[in-house]
Amino acid sequence: MAKIYNSITELVGRTPIVEFKRLEKVLGLKGRIAGKLEYFNPAGSHKDRIALEIIEGAEARGEISPDKTTLVEFTSGNTGIALAAFAAAKGYKFKIGLQPGVSVERLKLLEAYNAEIADITPEDLAPVFEKGVEAFGPLTEKLLAGTVNGYATWQLSNPDNILAHYRHTGPEIWEDTDGAVDIFIGGVGTGGSTHGVSKYLKEKKPEVVTIITQPDPESVKNSAVEGAGDGGFHGIHAVKDENGFNAMKPDNFSAEYSDRYEYVTYAETLKAIHLVGRYEGIFLGASAGASLAVAIREALKEENEGKLIIPLLPDNGERYLSENLQRVRPELENKVTTF
Ligand SMILES: Cc1ncc(COP(=O)(O)O)c(C=O)c1O
Repeated sequence: MAKIYNSITELVGRTPIVEFKRLEKVLGLKGRIAGKLEYFNPAGSHKDRIALEIIEGAEARGEISPDKTTLVEFTSGNTGIALAAFAAAKGYKFKIGLQPGVSVERLKLLEAYNAEIADITPEDLAPVFEKGVEAFGPLTEKLLAGTVNGYATWQLSNPDNILAHYRHTGPEIWEDTDGAVDIFIGGVGTGGSTHGVSKYLKEKKPEVVTIITQPDPESVKNSAVEGAGDGGFHGIHAVKDENGFNAMKPDNFSAEYSDRYEYVTYAETLKAIHLVGRYEGIFLGASAGASLAVAIREALKEENEGKLIIPLLPDNGERYLSENLQRVRPELENKVTTF
C-alpha cells in the first residue's frame, strides 16, 4: 500500500524510546534507562509538538489563517525552528525575536525555513539578562505591535504547549512502556513538556516520580561554553533553589506534578553526552545530556534496582556543533565523581 505523507506536519510525534543497554552494563546501573528521542521529530526537537498544537489550535478556533496571519514568537531557538518549519509547510509568515547567544546552527535553520528575524536592539534585550523569562512578555508585545495581523504563539503561557505533551508525549511514554515507567526526568524551559507528560503519567499511575533537571548555578556562572549566558545548557534553567521558586518559573511549569529538583553540572552533562555517544551511537544535545546525567545518578541507586527511568531527550548534538559539543573534555569530565 502506498504511504506518501501530505506534509511534514503529519510526521510529528511517535518518537522512539530506546533503552541504553550497553550504557547500563558499562556503568553497572541498577535501574533501567530508556530515553525518549525527541530529535526524531521532523524539525528536530520536542518543540515540534507544541508548534503544531499551537498553530492547529488557533486554526481550529478560527484565530489565524495562512492568507493573512504572521506568527510571532520570542524564543531561544527550538520553538522558533519548529514554528518556522510548520509555518513554511502551512503557508504562514513567521517573525522571530531571538534571545542572545543563539547558536549559528539555529540561525541557519531559521534562514532555511524562510523565517524573518526581527530587529531587536541590545537595549531592548537588556532586561532578558536581568529578569529572564519575565522580560519576554514586553519584547513579544513590541514585536506584535510592529507586525500587521501578527499572532503571538506565547509558548511560555499558551496552554496548548502543555496540551501537546498531555495529549501525545505522555500517552506515547505510557503506551510504549506498557505502563512500566517509574521515574520521568526532564528540564524546564517553558515547563510545558514536564507539566503535560507528568500530569498524564500521574493520572495513569500516581506513583510515577517526576524529577526536574536543573543546571547547577556554578556551572552557569562559570560557563565552560564561551559566550553562553546559560552555561551551555541551552533551553533549560533552574526554577527552584533553597529559597523556593525564582523569577525564571514560567506560567506553563507545574510544581504540582514535579516531585524533585536535581542540580546537574555541565561536566556531568558532557560526560553523559559522550558516554551515550560512545556506547549507544546517539549524539544528544546539552539539555538532553543534563537529563541523562540525572537518569544515570538515579539508576546507580540501590533503591532504584529494576526501575524504569525515562528521560525526555529534547534534541540532538548536531544542533550544537559550533560549540564542539562532541569533543571529550577530560579536564572537566574526569572530575565527575557521581558516575
Ligand atoms: C533543547 C531544549 N531542551 C529543553 C527545553 C525545555 O522544554 P520545555 O519548554 O517543554 O520546558 C527546551 C525548550 O525551551 C529546549 O529548547
